[in-house]
Amino acid sequence: MQAIKSKDSVVYFNEEAYQQLNNYLANTNHSSMFVLVDTNTHENCLARFMGNLAIDLPIEIIEIEAGEINKNIETCSGVWNALSELGADRKSLLINLGGGVVTDLGGFIACTFKRGISYINIPTTLLAMVDASVGGKTGVDLGNLKNMVGVISESEMVLVDTAYLKTLSGNELRSGFAEMLKHGLIKDANYWRRLSKIEALTTTDLDTLIHESVIIKNDIVLVDPTEQNIRKYLNFGHTLGHAIESYFLTHPEKQTLLHGEAIAIGMITEAFLAKEILGLSETDLLEVATVFMNIYPKVSIEKEDYQAIIDLLIFDKKNVGGKVLFVLLNKIGEAKFNCEVPENLLIASLDYYNQLQ
Ligand code: GLY
Repeated sequence: MQAIKSKDSVVYFNEEAYQQLNNYLANTNHSSMFVLVDTNTHENCLARFMGNLAIDLPIEIIEIEAGEINKNIETCSGVWNALSELGADRKSLLINLGGGVVTDLGGFIACTFKRGISYINIPTTLLAMVDASVGGKTGVDLGNLKNMVGVISESEMVLVDTAYLKTLSGNELRSGFAEMLKHGLIKDANYWRRLSKIEALTTTDLDTLIHESVIIKNDIVLVDPTEQNIRKYLNFGHTLGHAIESYFLTHPEKQTLLHGEAIAIGMITEAFLAKEILGLSETDLLEVATVFMNIYPKVSIEKEDYQAIIDLLIFDKKNVGGKVLFVLLNKIGEAKFNCEVPENLLIASLDYYNQLQ
């Protein structure tokens, strides 16, 4: 699969990925290499990664606890301290081997340790392959607010090795698939329709689709790397989706939602808003709702939860001057950013989701 060039980075796929990594390591003079893993990728992915290395460089492994709950500044502190104690210097390289928590948090650590060291992302989940590891967004959560603190700075390279997908559960694959469906909805109706027809997600189907998703995301990020305009499209489904995800994360009595499960609800509710505000057709709305309801389990959002979810929207990163700004769809394959939505429609969108079967 053809490598994909972004502004300051390159995404390499499968066999070529390790060749490129080994070439890079042979041609740069890093003083040492640190591999950041979480408890899952330490167990399931590290051996494969190490087995593909052909270099002679001091390597240290730093492990963090797996899970979104650990994507915070305290975990960063632990890793900054570990780097310092293990003698990392400005010529050290950090390799982030993991899902979105590891790549976002590891990228932020690399961008800030000693004012910045080089880093490479090796995403091991579908979500990180198609979204988190591409485009240079790094950062951590602030309490229950997602990705509130961070910087945009691309890694040296991204290595997508789809063999790591074999370590994932069906739920985790479906979680990443939601971001791929989003790519179709905001930019490419044909891609959306091809994805919607897939009956069972297998890792073999996914190879070329991941490549297509990365191209869609990369084309957007190349035009607008710092999210002044069209990069906002990538937040479709994430305004209500993040609020729902944050709300569920901080209410232990609620089920745990994977990111993709939360943004699937976000995409249904925001498609409803698009119908009300931009005139998205009833047919398109129904198609969006049907596809997501067929893939993702119905989540119960109680009426008593609505206000707390809506209140979380004031923390959304796209807001300007206290206004909550949504990305909505004109039609499947075409999005519009900076859309204002009155509160009564937010409630109606959650009601719309709740009545779906
Ligand atoms: N995850 C959305 C973006 O990278 O812009």
